[in-house]
Amino acid sequence: MKYYHTNTNFLWGVATAANQVEGGWNEDGKGMSIADCLRYRPQIDIRDYKSVNSMDSEEIKRALRDNSTKGWAKRHGVDFYHNYRDDIRQLAETGINTYRFSIAWSRIFPNGDDSKPNKAGLDYYLNLVKELAKYDIEPVVTLSHYEMPLNLVLNYDAWYDRKLISFFEKFADTVIDYLHEYVKYWIPINEIDSIIRHPFSSAGLVEDRFQNKNFSNVIYQSMHHQFVAAARVVQYCHNNYPSMKVGCMVTRTMVYPYNSDPQNVLQASKVMRDVYAFSDIQVRGKYPNFLLKQLEEKNIRLKMESTDEEDLKKGSADFVAFSYYSSVCTAYDVTGLKVTKANRTMGVYNKYLPESDWGWQIDPIGLRLSLIDLYDRYQKPLFIVENGLGAVDELASDGSVHDDYRIDYLSKHIKQMLISLTQDGIELMGYCIWGTTDMISASSNQISKRYGLIYVDLDDEGNGSYKRYKKDSFYWYKKLLSFGSEIPFSFFKTTNVSVEEVSLKIR
Ligand code: BG6
Repeated sequence: MKYYHTNTNFLWGVATAANQVEGGWNEDGKGMSIADCLRYRPQIDIRDYKSVNSMDSEEIKRALRDNSTKGWAKRHGVDFYHNYRDDIRQLAETGINTYRFSIAWSRIFPNGDDSKPNKAGLDYYLNLVKELAKYDIEPVVTLSHYEMPLNLVLNYDAWYDRKLISFFEKFADTVIDYLHEYVKYWIPINEIDSIIRHPFSSAGLVEDRFQNKNFSNVIYQSMHHQFVAAARVVQYCHNNYPSMKVGCMVTRTMVYPYNSDPQNVLQASKVMRDVYAFSDIQVRGKYPNFLLKQLEEKNIRLKMESTDEEDLKKGSADFVAFSYYSSVCTAYDVTGLKVTKANRTMGVYNKYLPESDWGWQIDPIGLRLSLIDLYDRYQKPLFIVENGLGAVDELASDGSVHDDYRIDYLSKHIKQMLISLTQDGIELMGYCIWGTTDMISASSNQISKRYGLIYVDLDDEGNGSYKRYKKDSFYWYKKLLSFGSEIPFSFFKTTNVSVEEVSLKIR
């Protein structure tokens, strides 16, 4: 029999973000966060990313007036806050050895500028990592994943304000000190590049609060502050806990030229460079020339302090973490071409690829190409910290969920990853499926865009019992992980693994 091989310490896991699963939005001293201002808005066309990503001061006022959870999907999440022990117990059954989760900043510093942290918040995460330790599950902790205290938006203009660097540092250092005995792997900021696409959820920036300023300038200045803050987290870990590893984290959407017309190839290369800029800064510790040139052309002058360059240099990341869901094409002239979506971005439709229920094109080979490109560019260990399929699932009357489309998606992506690991000479630390249980979608605030291995009985309006049901993909992952570091080629031949067969073998 032929096998794919991984290192024996390969991190196989699952991933979530606090604001998408926890709920408990105002419990035990948690402050209001930007995620608590995001409503499920059924009237918005989910294909229209401008509207999906939009946020204004009126909407925030509305959120402040309404103290309920009804409609504010991220305020209730899937109640992981109360269910974490049970959820972790069930997930551990799959055989995972890692769990990537994020900290709700507003649980630790409810207003972001508080002089002292909220002990109840810190204890919550300490209990969480202790729970993971019971099952030998290695935590990978993201410090900021689309969640920051709302007070920092209202009273400081969010990441545009340089003070945010020290607020974030204080938050990060506090959490790192509290959890250091249990957590080795850290990611300061989720998808740091997303500030360009959705500046509110990524950095708390509300355009109408910057009326006299050029908003692009605001975004890039905030981006710079995030880079400095992230670099200081790297330094803090290295100086105080030398065995810790700190990664940068970017959104990886593979971008192809629409065809071989050199003008389209050039266009694709430009778009990819925009994507690379974010990891270049965090891995190489300095701004790439092409980004500086671009900023100059846009007449954007970043305000930097004398220590910033040194901070970026000293704070370069130990590993490159990324999310991967889909790919798009691009063209220098898109007139008349069919458009498509990727992760909160638009592109030109690729006729060779199928698409998900939400119109994201499914491209497993794009994952392999991403691994090759990123490794060749940086020669740093890579980590796939998000990969998964958002789809409509049906709960059958017997409690089963037959999500063969998700098994198909995961199987094809994991296979490409294993081929890359075997043939491309890359270094890869691990792979996490996006989704433990279902959770609230980051972009559309729907739960019906389900990613989990475990179904949660809840609808987009927030109705349901919150009961959990294992999907077929849960058993499929369990079967995959049962092979350890030697995975037979044959496992990927059929994606329709019968659930009975899997559970029988594993019992
Ligand atoms: C990633 C984010 O970009 O995409 C996650 O880090 C998000 O937070 C995931 O959930 C999928 O996007 P969505 O909008 O379908 O939830």
